[in-house]
This record gives sequence, structure tokens and C-alpha cells, in this order.
Amino acid sequence: MTPIFRTSRPGSAADPSRPHIILVGLPGSGKSSVGRTVATRLDRTFLDFDFEIERREGKSITEIFGEQGEAYFRAKELALTKELQQVGNMILAPGGGWITNPDVVGLLRPPGRLIYLRVQPGTALSRLGTRRSLRPLLSRPDPGAELERLYGQRRAAYENADHIVDTELYSLQRVIEKVLELASSVG
Ligand code: S3P
Repeated sequence: MTPIFRTSRPGSAADPSRPHIILVGLPGSGKSSVGRTVATRLDRTFLDFDFEIERREGKSITEIFGEQGEAYFRAKELALTKELQQVGNMILAPGGGWITNPDVVGLLRPPGRLIYLRVQPGTALSRLGTRRSLRPLLSRPDPGAELERLYGQRRAAYENADHIVDTELYSLQRVIEKVLELASSVG
């Protein structure tokens, strides 16, 4: 059965013969805003995993974590990732924790290519601002310490991406241009 996603281009064909570009990084690294713009500029389809899981569950990420728990959410990420094996050529923005399960990542790469939007935890937290409250893992008494902890756990996996764009060094516009260049050179 052909999977149905709520993407930036409803009904668009996502050519399975071409690899996905997958943006990874901490919450606040810019995956969604960069991915959406890059997809528009390249006339490719964009999918934000969290939005798609929220749509399917009819609940916010916070509600899913609170009512069903993180393991349930990770199972939904896995299921969505499996469906994405059947299509290609999309710009994907999984949540920041997707990288933690190598078996899940291995479903899409190869042939998919990972671009890591690198950001330090402190910068990520200030970029998120009040949107931090939409991230259940950061709605804890010391979100800074929590993000540092997650970064420590995930850093090696993030750095194992095919490409790294250091978002601390460049303006958002320049980050978008760099990702555009990388994405255009693939597939
Ligand atoms: C998570 C990041 C969130 C979301 C969920 C868990 C994480 O996505 O998937 O709250 O484990 O880092 P963003 O990276 O888009 O904030």
C-alpha cells in the first residue's frame, strides 16, 4: 500500500529511485525551518516527522509523551521511517532523538544522506525560547542540563552524518544555501 504523508506538497510523487535528504540535530538546530525552505527551493517534498506523528495520533507530541510514553513515540518514529523506505527524493526532518537508534537510521541510509545541523546546546535552548515547552524532554526543571545530557549522548551519532553544517558559524540564510548545495549534489 502506498503510504500517505502530510507533506509540503500534497499528492506529489516522491521518486523512490532518488535518495532522501535527512536533516538531523538537536531541537533548535533549525531542521524544520531549513528543511521546508530547501524543499521549496528544490521543488522537493518536505516532511516533518513530529507534525506527521501528531497528525496521525491526533495529539501533540507533549500529549503523546505524557499519555503513552517515550517508547510509544519512538515506535511511531520507527513505523514512519519504514514507510519512508518506499518513497524517495524527500527532504526529511525527524525529531532530534531519531538518531539514537542506529537500526532506525539504517532503514534510510544508505541511500539517504544525513546532513547534521550542528548547534551547541546553549544556543539551541535560546533559539527555542518559549517553544521549549512544546518539547517534553525539555519541559523539566533544568532544560539546559537536560539538553547538555542529550547532546552528550547523541553527539557521536550526529557527527557520523554524511555532511555537517555548523549553524553557529553562519546566518540562517547561509545555512540554507549550504544545505541547498549539498542536497543538489546528491541524487
Ligand atoms: C525530541 C525532539 C523533538 C521531538 C520530541 C523528542 C528529542 O523534535 O521529536 O520532543 O528526543 O530530541 P525536535 O528535534 O524537532 O524538537
